[in-house]
Amino acid sequence: MAPIFEIKHLTHRYPGKGGIFDISFSVSRGEFIILAGQNGSGKTTLIRHLNGLLQPETGEIHLHGKNILKDLIQTRKKVGMVFQDADTQIVGDTVFDEVAFGPENLNLQRDHINTKVTQVLEQLDLIGLKDRNPATLSGGEKRKLTIAGILVMDPEIIIFDEPFANLDHPGTQSLLATISDLNKKGQTIIMATHDVETLLESASRLLIMAEGKLAQDGSITDLVKKLEFYGVKKPCACRMESQRPWQP
Ligand SMILES: Nc1ncnc2c1ncn2[C@@H]1O[C@H](COP(=O)(O)OP(=O)(O)OP(=O)(O)O)[C@@H](O)[C@H]1O
Ligand SMILES: [Mg+2]
Repeated sequence: MAPIFEIKHLTHRYPGKGGIFDISFSVSRGEFIILAGQNGSGKTTLIRHLNGLLQPETGEIHLHGKNILKDLIQTRKKVGMVFQDADTQIVGDTVFDEVAFGPENLNLQRDHINTKVTQVLEQLDLIGLKDRNPATLSGGEKRKLTIAGILVMDPEIIIFDEPFANLDHPGTQSLLATISDLNKKGQTIIMATHDVETLLESASRLLIMAEGKLAQDGSITDLVKKLEFYGVKKPCACRMESQRPWQP
């Protein structure tokens, strides 16, 4: 299948030695890609380039063959971004208004906006919360709300940076079920996470970053054994240690 999104030789050097270096990969429609790597390996930096929040020193990103920097409004609509601190992305007084915010800025017709927002809130199981003030939602609900605000714009790709951070087990499972379901319906997803094991059954492809470079790109089954080498997964012995119940 022809790729929809192409990252070509992306380099971004920060003052000091951090950054990303000569990153290239392509994304096909419907893929669910995990971006793994140790702290500081460059995941967030790469992600911030994917919708033009950062601009590379060299290299280009193409969506359907067009450089994403040529039309940033269109790019931000087509490449949705969910950050770890979902709070800072929230602007509406109610859950409904929050989701309606993007379509309103596109001057879509009121009836059309209402139908679309209702449909997305139902899809994400947020309809019961539609009149709530977003500030009163739980962390997991807020993250779903951010996804709703993106989905309502009909994105080509949704990108997540550590979506499970600060969520408890049920919160993680519920968000994962939502994201997995979107992917099963054809939504293309890229997700930076340290929780690779949680996603083994949902995602299809794994990119591993190391020191700003793309060290591995392949299927989950092929690469999962290499995660320990890249410091993404704890070696077996300490995993068992941390799982041992506490004893006085
Ligand atoms: N604004 C900045 N100025 C200078 N260096 C930076 C800046 N932002 C990030 N870096 C450095 O670039 C490297 C990559 O950082 P980045 O945040 O992309 O890593 P990450 O893989 O997302 O890490 P984490 O898993 O901790 O979220 C790090 O060494 C970081 O210190
Ligand atoms: Mg990061």
